[in-house]
Amino acid sequence: MKVDVLLGLQWGDEGKGKVVDVLTPRYNVVARFQGGPNAGHTLEFEGKKFVLRSIPSGVFQHGQINIIGNGVVLDPILFKEEAEDLEKNGVELKKILKISKKAHLIMPTHRLLDKANEALKGKSKIGTTGKGIGPTYTDKISRNGLRIGDIFNNFDEKYSVAKNRHVTLLKALGADADVSAIEGKWLEGIEYLKEFDIIDSEYVVNRYLKEGKSILCEGAQGSLLDVDFGSYPFVTSSNTVCAGACTGLGVAPRKIGEVFGIFKAYCTRVGSGPFPTELFDETGAQIRKIGHEYGAVTGRERRCGWIDLVALRYTIMLNGVTQLIMMKSDVLDGFDTVKACNSYIVDGKATSDFPFSIDAKIEPVYTEMPGWKTDMTKFKSESEFPKEFKDYIKFLEAQLEVPITIVSVGPDREQTILRK
Ligand code: GDP
Ligand code: IMO
Ligand code: MG
Repeated sequence: MKVDVLLGLQWGDEGKGKVVDVLTPRYNVVARFQGGPNAGHTLEFEGKKFVLRSIPSGVFQHGQINIIGNGVVLDPILFKEEAEDLEKNGVELKKILKISKKAHLIMPTHRLLDKANEALKGKSKIGTTGKGIGPTYTDKISRNGLRIGDIFNNFDEKYSVAKNRHVTLLKALGADADVSAIEGKWLEGIEYLKEFDIIDSEYVVNRYLKEGKSILCEGAQGSLLDVDFGSYPFVTSSNTVCAGACTGLGVAPRKIGEVFGIFKAYCTRVGSGPFPTELFDETGAQIRKIGHEYGAVTGRERRCGWIDLVALRYTIMLNGVTQLIMMKSDVLDGFDTVKACNSYIVDGKATSDFPFSIDAKIEPVYTEMPGWKTDMTKFKSESEFPKEFKDYIKFLEAQLEVPITIVSVGPDREQTILRK
């Protein structure tokens, strides 16, 4: 068996949580491979709404196994809150969730370091989620991190060494180094983690594949936030592209099957950094209002703009996307016309490539198409789509050279149209 991978092709918040939930019945296992509680994955069904941050979005279907892979960074405080909330809502999490021994722990001092790094950057701050993501991955790469498997063996000493190192750094930066307010809660979170099945996830995943079990790997963030290929330095600190599923779960590259690439019918971004198709006018405000474009975790306003096909072609290439999933088409239901950016003029020269330099002056070149002016939120099949919307899909498929196999027309699980 091979694993299928589902990931965001833009700057995150494409609707990954919703689609993972919809696709979960096709799989035996759902596994997160990178990121941490910087993610906010929203699911809506039967009048209920959940936002998942560290826990995979496959926990609400039919008892599938869910795995938090080694590539994830986990905050015990936030994990406990999230897990207890799910348990209160009837999810038997301890039966279905397994956590990798090799996933790294976000410490209270990592949050302080995140804050201190941002403060040092001043005006050029990244606008991180403040969850300690960057400092935790930094410690992983610089070989100073604490892993979940460490909690069973001489943990107090390991924690104290790591914490003291952080306190020295924080003091050198002139930053707040006091974690006494949340340290107790964090240690409670560590004890709570011990109630879960802590596993050698790379062995478990590969054994499942050998046994013929199907696995869906759930990405967090989006490819334009990838630390190598995104709009660096305004990115997150992990590989959000498909290759991240290999390193974040221990799956060999030749075991990757379908790659589902998710995008919104328009584009959004939270935090700082370039966004060529960003709209600063009434249209942008309208998209934000209709699409409820406010961060699922931070509540921050999301910046909104037209769909960017230059960026999408780039991320489709990086991920080897085999199927596209278009989200939030309904948000554009009322527009007279819709626009798609097909190429850029960068520093005066036309190009179809995503530029290296974030300082470059990028002018998007748009194709404008008639809107469909139809409420699609109750549609059940693509035969109901108005001609203008069918033409829009045809245009996107021709430009992106990958079929759009799912169209989402609302936040609910049911508002999902499977094509072909
Ligand atoms: P994720 O991080 O990729 O899982 O996405 P988020 O949950 O952060 O953001 C997506 C938002 O759009 C959530 O509020 C979803 O409930 C909502 N959503 C998902 N699909 C659709 C859709 O097709 N139409 C509309 N109107 N909302 C959607
Ligand atoms: P999901 O999985 C949207 C953004 C932050 C910031 C940058 C770095 O819900 O799509 P970090 O805290 O990771 O160091 O912040 O990345 N960011 C996201 N934006 N969706 C996300 O996750 C994000 N996770 C991080 O806003 O610009
Ligand atoms: Mg989100």
